[in-house]
Amino acid sequence: MSAGPVLQAGNLLLRPWRDGDLPAFAALNADPRVMEFLPAVLDRAASDAMAGRIRDHFARQGYGLWAVEVPGVTDFAGFVGLNVPPFEAHFMPCVEIGWRLAVDYWGRGYATTGARAALHFAFDKLQLAEVVSFTVPHNVRSRRVMERLGMAHDPADDFDHPLLADGHPLRWHVLYRVGRTERKSL
Ligand SMILES: CC(C)(COP(=O)(O)OP(=O)(O)OC[C@H]1O[C@@H](n2cnc3c(N)ncnc32)[C@H](O)[C@@H]1OP(=O)(O)O)[C@@H](O)C(=O)NCCC(=O)NCCS
Repeated sequence: MSAGPVLQAGNLLLRPWRDGDLPAFAALNADPRVMEFLPAVLDRAASDAMAGRIRDHFARQGYGLWAVEVPGVTDFAGFVGLNVPPFEAHFMPCVEIGWRLAVDYWGRGYATTGARAALHFAFDKLQLAEVVSFTVPHNVRSRRVMERLGMAHDPADDFDHPLLADGHPLRWHVLYRVGRTERKSL
């Protein structure tokens, strides 16, 4: 079991990762529907490596991209949580909020419900002034989560993702922000 707090988020549990999550995580990372707006589907080794980086982030920072459990429904639906992006950009340093769920668990409000709890953690426990989120312009589902959370998009903030090569079709990203002072709308 990795270190890290457990957050109760409505009917969800945001919890530390377990080794038993790895097969289900690999299955969603191999699903082209889940990875449509990400650079590539991941094989088992790359998926396990990503889970390892997430667990390292919890160990280092005390928070991260929590595993989402829905008691009575599934032990592992995907992840929702907070992350320090590993690159330089005009909005760095920052903490981002992000999500990735298996397709079976889309359309149930899990990303929004989990993200609200993660934002409360960011503002109440971590005392952050701001949380950002970013994705490609065409990822409408993800943008809708950002908008439901009350995050604001200023086109002047949009940016080329530094980890994607010049000319990569997914390089251009939209950036959303929410500040602690806007939290009453959460
Ligand atoms: C982005 C992603 C997490 C969004 O999933 P989602 O199911 O659309 O988002 P939510 O979990 O917040 O659910 C919202 C939907 O559930 C419905 N819903 C049902 N019950 C709900 C509730 N209690 N609260 C909120 N929404 C609810 C909403 O009406 C909405 O449906 P709609 O899409 O038909 O309008 C998902 O599409 C995904 O994992 N995508 C692949 C990974 C990815 O692109 N991640 C982002 C990369 S930057």
